[in-house]
Amino acid sequence: MTKRVSILNGPNLNLLGQRQPEIYGYETLDDIAARCAALGQELGLDTLLRQSNYEGQIIDWIHEARQSSFGIIINPGAFTHTSVAILDALNTFDGPVLEVHISNVHKREAFRHHSYVSLRADGVIAGFGTQGYELALRRMATLVEK
Ligand code: DQA
Repeated sequence: MTKRVSILNGPNLNLLGQRQPEIYGYETLDDIAARCAALGQELGLDTLLRQSNYEGQIIDWIHEARQSSFGIIINPGAFTHTSVAILDALNTFDGPVLEVHISNVHKREAFRHHSYVSLRADGVIAGFGTQGYELALRRMATLVEK
């Protein structure tokens, strides 16, 4: 059976391509979804990319993933740096969790240097632009094989 990977995105990432392109680039979230779906097909993974500006919605999707998904790739946006609730939700999930940031958060403001989600993440990718999602997906495929 094809294994599902939930790719969850937090606040403001719906504006990808328009929002601070000098930091986040010109690709949209739809472009990323399409590239992940194509790569997923190659790797034998079913991808479901979603985005919400609401913390509770992301938490509900993490809970849903407990039944539906092999792994979670998450770019929590600014919730990375604030949300104990998303960390708690991820701690209820048994499969691999990979954290992705488009920008290199460590090169930016000090408040972006701490991530609650990293306390649960099995791996973190930052500063690889939107390609980070595909790198995370390739890692998921490796974890499926293990
Ligand atoms: C981000 C980095 C966060 O600090 C920021 O709040 C975002 C996007 C990234 O992908 O680089 O919204 O997660």
